[in-house]
Amino acid sequence: MDTTDLVLAIVHHLLVFSLAGIIGAEFVLVRGDLPATTLKRLAGIDRHYGIIAALIIVVGIGRVFYGLKGWEFYVHNWVFWAKMAAFAVMGLLSTIPTVRFISWNRQASASPSFMVPAAELALVKTYIRAEAFIFLLIPIFAAAMARGYGY
Ligand code: HEM
Repeated sequence: MDTTDLVLAIVHHLLVFSLAGIIGAEFVLVRGDLPATTLKRLAGIDRHYGIIAALIIVVGIGRVFYGLKGWEFYVHNWVFWAKMAAFAVMGLLSTIPTVRFISWNRQASASPSFMVPAAELALVKTYIRAEAFIFLLIPIFAAAMARGYGY
């Protein structure tokens, strides 16, 4: 029995499910007129996205080095690197919504009549949809790598 591995696995799973919830929340909220209160909520949710993603990186790296299998198990496994690449792509995709949420909030604070331009809203929605799709690939890679696929 290895308590460190267990704790890291539990925290990793809880963080990953939280991130799924956050992506879902952003997906549901980014639609319609987007009043200032919703824009504020979106910015707050998006901040948590960043915090949780950072924690996933820390805990994930913790699993690589302090998990039961040892780091050698992962560094030579291409499925592990596919999982890392997918996570990195998700991170890159998420920058567009983040920048928009901040900008929309700033404009809404400056001018109460501000309306999110429809084209920007559609673009952000597309990025969130792409993020959600990539996110789905990650547990698939994770399950495969954990079972020794990828050598
Ligand atoms: C830098 C980011 C990440 C790193 C370094 C990382 C690393 C790891 C490691 C080392 C394991 C243990 C696999 C084993 O038991 O051999 C694991 C498991 C897992 N990871 Fe990650 N991970 C990261 C991000 C993510 C993300 C974003 C997700 C979800 C979208 C995710 C989902 C999972 C799942 C579901 C498992 C359990 C696999 C299983 O036991 O079947 N990971 N991860």
